Amino acid sequence: MMPAYTASPPDLQTQIIAAAALLDAGGVVAFPTETVYGLGADISCPDAVDRIFRIKGRPASHPLIVHIASLHDLPCWSQEIPDAAWQLATRFWPGPLTLILQRSQLIPLNVTGGQETVGLRVPDHPVALSLLQYSTDGHKRALAAPSANRFGHISPTTADHVREELGEAVDMILDGGNCAIGLESTIVSVHNKTVTLLRPGAISVAALEAVLGKPVALSAKAGTAIRVSGSLAAHYAPDTPLEILSATSLQQRTEALVSQGLRVAVMVQTPSLLTAIRTAADSCIAMPETAAAYGNRLYATLRQLDRQGVDHILTESPPTGADWLAIADRLQRASHRTARNSTKSTIDTLPAL
Ligand code: TXA
Ligand code: MG
Repeated sequence: MMPAYTASPPDLQTQIIAAAALLDAGGVVAFPTETVYGLGADISCPDAVDRIFRIKGRPASHPLIVHIASLHDLPCWSQEIPDAAWQLATRFWPGPLTLILQRSQLIPLNVTGGQETVGLRVPDHPVALSLLQYSTDGHKRALAAPSANRFGHISPTTADHVREELGEAVDMILDGGNCAIGLESTIVSVHNKTVTLLRPGAISVAALEAVLGKPVALSAKAGTAIRVSGSLAAHYAPDTPLEILSATSLQQRTEALVSQGLRVAVMVQTPSLLTAIRTAADSCIAMPETAAAYGNRLYATLRQLDRQGVDHILTESPPTGADWLAIADRLQRASHRTARNSTKSTIDTLPAL
């Protein structure tokens, strides 16, 4: 399936203008951000917003993040803005931080899933910012844009990912290359005076706390402790079953699955394991050692392994440091379906965002 038009450099500027016109006419346009690709509709077009839910197969009660052009527009899109929100927005926007705030009357309820709060962010990508800064009739634009994937599936980090997954359902896909971060934004609620982490991302809790000068709470659902599985939320998931294992059990588990006649792909981080796993597995991917590089590769790697059609993906559990929180969260969700059926897993998860 192909969309009506896919824009890529060098005609990107022309296509941004065409995309802006499409958005003004009630179209749905996929565009790059620094985190993942978004599936965008102008919030003033209710039919286009409805189409986002239909294209994704997303429940209408599940709120969409609204992308805005500038920090200075915050009072336009939200109200009762606490100091903490200004501090965080001033420091991190444009950037991978979504703030949950009290919505203004300009944010329709179909965007927020009927809630009085709205998730707002200024993306740090020139294509996204151009789209937000330009409208054919000069109106101040806000774009509702969830990740441009089917509900529950892996977020896209290239235009090709969007094309493969959503194809003709989208009016246009703007190609801005690989997303620099590759994981969805950090989501923080600054509503009701407390600052609470709802989804970990590239901006760490420590970075938030350094700006605020006070601790950030983890939402009750967002406990970071590793607990026994049972009520895990599946999200960000490949089609192939994924299992997280310690470095010490990776080789044995690979060999056990291969001996059952299964085709196994393994994502390895510990360099000393590579040779043995390469021998045992059908496919062995060396994953980067830094959190930033790992986050950038994670979704593309899971998509590549899905395409290869292996029966099972094994991954080494990531390091436990604060930098790895977002990666650990996404891997836990991605492994949810497998973990439910496995007595081996002791991994629990953050809430399904
Ligand atoms: O990096 C990102 O955040 C990407 C790019 C495209 O900006 N967007 C993204 O959107 O990940 P989405 O819709 O796939 O995930 C956003 C999550 C939703 O699942 C929703 O649960 C949460 O943000 N959210 C949005 N509005 C909210 C609200 N008012 N209260 C609580 N959570 C909210
Ligand atoms: Mg998403």
